[in-house]
Amino acid sequence: MGINKGWLWTKIDSDYWSEPSEEIYYLASRWKDMGYKGFLDLGCGIGRHSIHMASQGFDVTAYDLSDTGLQLLRDKASKLDLSIQTVKGDNEKLPFKDSSFDCLLAYHSLYHSDSEGMGRIVSEMHRVLGSGGEVYLTLISKSHPDYLRDDLEKLDANTVMKPEEDGSIVPHYFVSYEEIEELLHPFEVIKVKHVEDFFSGKSSWHYFVHIRKP
Ligand SMILES: C[S@@+](CC[C@H](N)C(=O)[O-])C[C@H]1O[C@@H](n2cnc3c(N)ncnc32)[C@H](O)[C@@H]1O
Repeated sequence: MGINKGWLWTKIDSDYWSEPSEEIYYLASRWKDMGYKGFLDLGCGIGRHSIHMASQGFDVTAYDLSDTGLQLLRDKASKLDLSIQTVKGDNEKLPFKDSSFDCLLAYHSLYHSDSEGMGRIVSEMHRVLGSGGEVYLTLISKSHPDYLRDDLEKLDANTVMKPEEDGSIVPHYFVSYEEIEELLHPFEVIKVKHVEDFFSGKSSWHYFVHIRKP
C-alpha cells in the first residue's frame, strides 16, 4: 500500500505499551497447561507480551515492521536475560514455514490494513499455526467513534485513514460482529468479547477474539 505502518516508537511517550495486558496472564496459563511452546507475537511493538511469555518459558518470536520497536525490545530482553527472536516484516507476508507456532497473539496490531490486506493476514496466521493451535487477537469495532467520523478518508467499506500516536496517518480496519466469522472463516471461534475502553476519557471499542485452527 506504500504506507508506513510500522510505528516510530522513539516518538511515543506512554507507559501503556510497557505493561502487559491482563489477557496475557490468562493466555500464558492456558497455553502452558495445553503444552504449547512456540509463541508468535504479531505486531509486537516494544514487546510487553513477548517479554512476559519468554519469562513464562515459551519460545518467543516477536514480529513487527518497526525497527525502533524491535530494538527497544531487544534492549529490554537482554537486560532481563531473556531469549527472544526478533524478526522484522509485514503481517501480510510472514517469513515463517507452515505450522511453525503453537499459539499466536496479535494485540492491537492487526488492523493497520485494508479489507484485502486483512484477508491475506488471516490466511498467513492460519498457515504458520499448527493444527489445534490458538490465536488471540483484537480488532477495532465499527462501534468505535473513529469509524463514524466523516472527516477521515475511507479506503473501503471497512477501512479509514487515521492519524496514529506517532503522528503518521495509517489505515485502520473496522469490523462488525457479523463480519468477524466471515473474516476469520478458516478458524473456529472460541470466544468473542466486545469491549469499550477509555483512553484519556475517549471511548474506544474493540473485539477481543479467541480462535482455534481445527
Ligand atoms: C498499537 S501497537 C501494539 C503493540 C503490541 N502488540 C502491544 O500490544 O503492546 C501496533 C504495532 O503493530 C505494528 N504494525 C502495524 N502494522 C503492521 C504490519 N502490517 N506488520 C507488522 N507490524 C505492524 C506497529 O509497528 C506497532 O508496533
